[in-house]
Amino acid sequence: MLKVYFPHAKIAATAFVMCLAVLCLAGKSFSEPPAAAPAADTMNGYSMAQFRDFEKNWHLVTTRFRKDTGEMRITYANDIAWAALQKHSADYPDGAVFAKIGLMTQDDPAFTSSAVPSGARRYQFMVRDHKKHAETRGWGYAIFTPAGKPTYKKEDQDVQSLACSACHDLVSDRGYVFSQPMILAVAKEGDVMPAAPAPALQVSFTTDDGATLPQAAQKNLPANTAKVRRVHGPFEKHVFPGTMGEIRPTLIKEAITARLPAVLADDASALFAIAYINPDKAECTAAGGKKGVSVITVSTAGQGTDNNHMIKKMEYCEAGY
Ligand code: HEC
Repeated sequence: MLKVYFPHAKIAATAFVMCLAVLCLAGKSFSEPPAAAPAADTMNGYSMAQFRDFEKNWHLVTTRFRKDTGEMRITYANDIAWAALQKHSADYPDGAVFAKIGLMTQDDPAFTSSAVPSGARRYQFMVRDHKKHAETRGWGYAIFTPAGKPTYKKEDQDVQSLACSACHDLVSDRGYVFSQPMILAVAKEGDVMPAAPAPALQVSFTTDDGATLPQAAQKNLPANTAKVRRVHGPFEKHVFPGTMGEIRPTLIKEAITARLPAVLADDASALFAIAYINPDKAECTAAGGKKGVSVITVSTAGQGTDNNHMIKKMEYCEAGY
């Protein structure tokens, strides 16, 4: 099992006592030191407070946009992580930290084809400490609500860390870091922008009988489904509600290519995500008048109780197929 330590709280407390002694001896006045985050506000020993103002002081690495959820993501690196990125090194030293903000977007009422950020949804961090986080490949994962509260209860955090790590395993050759610095400029006139890095999530599927899926997933397949394409590999065992959202675009792609429902399902937690071609309307018109494929996704959303998860159904028009 993962152990959860709170060394920062301890170090901060010791440092505070030492400062106090030094300042008193020197007879100087001092302003209030920043209070250490209460243990309840930490995940893996990390708190939002300790990374305060990262968006002003760190390096902007890249932004990404999820077309299906309208979510914008902005990734930042501290100096140590940035130096490794610049060297194209996958060997991140201890102390490297990445932060990612997930933001909702909405149409700009003054110009509706342009979307603007409309508030943070969550903050995520990856902190490099080989020794402390040996079980999650040397990265400590932490996720917080916009108010700085850990998204998951203490007792669920070890499982969440493993779920974070299982997905980041897909990019083991990049030191478990997905983001690459975005290309903002071309070297000289006439140069073309180099292609974006290869698509991130490379998940393996096998063709399975629909009947082998957990009950909850089976019930949400289209009628008369015999075969499905099911995700196998690290995801199967280490999933958390967020995985079901992250995996959706990958499932959609597979469902369209294989012409079979594509599924990620976990027996233990009863979490699942399914994508299939809309049986009532195969074709659709996507943005810009492009021909597309109509796809339906059904997945568990949020954290239910006793494996009774909320089910979210959505319809997409996927262009480019
Ligand atoms: C199903 C896959 C998946 C899971 C699960 C996942 N991530 Fe990520 N993560 C990504 C992808 C893909 C990116 C690249 C940015 C983007 O597309 O949003 C990313 C980026 C990040 C980054 C920015 C650095 C980088 O690698 O690009 C941080 C920090 C991060 N994730 C933290 C977490 C934490 C904390 C958890 C668990 C609570 C988690 N992630 C779970 C897929 C995942």
